[in-house]
Amino acid sequence: MARLARRQASGMTALPKGFLSESLNRIQPSQTIAITQKERDLKALGRDTIGLAAGEPDFDTPDNIKEAAIAAIRAGKTKYPPVEGIPELRAAVSRKFKRENNLDYTPQQCFVAPGGKAIVFNALMATVNPGDEVVVSAPYWVSYPDIVLLAGGRPVVAETRVEDGFRLTPAALERAITPRTKWLILNQPSNPSGACYSREQLKALTDVLMRHPQVWVLTDDMYEHLVYGGFKFSTVAEVEPRLYERTLTMNGVSKAYAMTGWRIGYCGAPEPLTKAMAKLQSQSATSASSISQWASVEALNGTQHFIPVFQKAFEERRDLVVSMLNQARGIECPKPEGAFYVYPSVRKLMGKRAPSGRVISNDEAFATGLLEAEGVAVVHGGAFGLSPFFRISYATSNAALEEACRRIQRFCSSLD
Ligand SMILES: Cc1ncc(COP(=O)(O)O)c(C=O)c1O
Repeated sequence: MARLARRQASGMTALPKGFLSESLNRIQPSQTIAITQKERDLKALGRDTIGLAAGEPDFDTPDNIKEAAIAAIRAGKTKYPPVEGIPELRAAVSRKFKRENNLDYTPQQCFVAPGGKAIVFNALMATVNPGDEVVVSAPYWVSYPDIVLLAGGRPVVAETRVEDGFRLTPAALERAITPRTKWLILNQPSNPSGACYSREQLKALTDVLMRHPQVWVLTDDMYEHLVYGGFKFSTVAEVEPRLYERTLTMNGVSKAYAMTGWRIGYCGAPEPLTKAMAKLQSQSATSASSISQWASVEALNGTQHFIPVFQKAFEERRDLVVSMLNQARGIECPKPEGAFYVYPSVRKLMGKRAPSGRVISNDEAFATGLLEAEGVAVVHGGAFGLSPFFRISYATSNAALEEACRRIQRFCSSLD
C-alpha cells in the first residue's frame, strides 16, 4: 500500500499493457532534445558544461518583430485565427517566395503551421499510406524518419559520403527510388551536415525525379538564409519548374529570424495538398498562434538588415570551429557552406580508450565520453543515421565555442 501511495504521489503508476498506441512504439523521442536535457541536468548539478547539441540561434528575436507581437496583443488580435493562417501572413509568404525564390505561390497555396516540424508532420500524415516509401538522405534531420514511421510509411535511407560533401548523388537517389516511393525529402542547407547544393547539383537530382513521376519532393529550406562564402541558395521548384506541381516548398521563421520559440513554419504547395493539410490541422493544433503569426508578418515584410549580421557571425564561428577541430587529434572536420552545424568524422578514434577506461567503440561512446570527461555536449552521428561522426551546433558565443573546442582537443589527446 505504502509503495502504491508513493508511486501515485510521484505520478509514476504503470500504464496498462497495450495502452500506448502502436504508432508511438514505432518511434524514438528526439535524441537531440534528450542530449540537450542531459547537459542541462549536469549543469543543474553544478558541473561546468557547454551545450553544443541544441539547434537554435543564440541571438534574440529582433525588436521590430517583438514590437509587432506586442502591438497584436494590444489590438486584441488574440482570437482563433483561420486554420491555414491569417490572410496577412499567407500574403507575406506568397511575396517572400516570389522575392527570394522566384516562385509563384498564390496566398491560397501558402499554408502556416505551428513550426516547420508541423509542416513536415501535416504533409506526411496527410499523404503517407502503409507501405508508402519516403526517401531521406543520411545524415538526416532526426525527425524525418520518425514522422514517416508515425504516418505508417517506410523511410528509405540513402547514405551520403563525406567525400561528396554529404550531398545525395543522383546515382544514390536513383537506387533509392521504387514504385512505392511517394516523397523525397531534401533538406539544404542540411541539419546536421551543413551541406548545400549548387544549382547544377540540384538540377542533377531533379533530372532523376523527372524520370519518376510518382515521386513528390518536400524541400526543407529552413536554413536558406544561413549560407556563407557567397554561396547562392536555390530551391527545387525554381531549378526545375516542371516539378512545381509535385513540390512542397517548406520554410519558416525559426532559424533565419531567431524565432524558435514562436513556433511558426510555412510552405507553398499545390492547393489540394495545402487543403488536405488544413483538414488535418483543423483536428489537431487548429492553427498557429495568432500573435506569433502577426510577428511573422513583420519578420517577412519588415527590414531584413539583421540577416547579413547573423550570417557574418555564424560564418566566423564556422571558421573558428572548423579550424580548431581540425587541430584535434584524430578528428577530420569538413567545412560546410551553410546552416550552423559541422559534422566531423571520428573514424580515426575508433577503438581508442579514454582515461576513464571507456572504449570509443562508436560515435555514441565518443559523445558520452566527451560529456563525462569534459562536460561538452554534442550529438553522435548515429542519431542522424550516419556514423562515425558527431554534430556540433555552433550557434553559441565565440568564447563558449573556443573553450568547447579546447576541451575536445584535450579529450582527443587523452585517448590512447
Ligand atoms: C532541418 C530542419 N527542419 C525543420 C526544423 C523545424 O523547425 P521548427 O522549429 O520551426 O519546427 C528544424 C529544426 O531544428 C530543422 O533543423
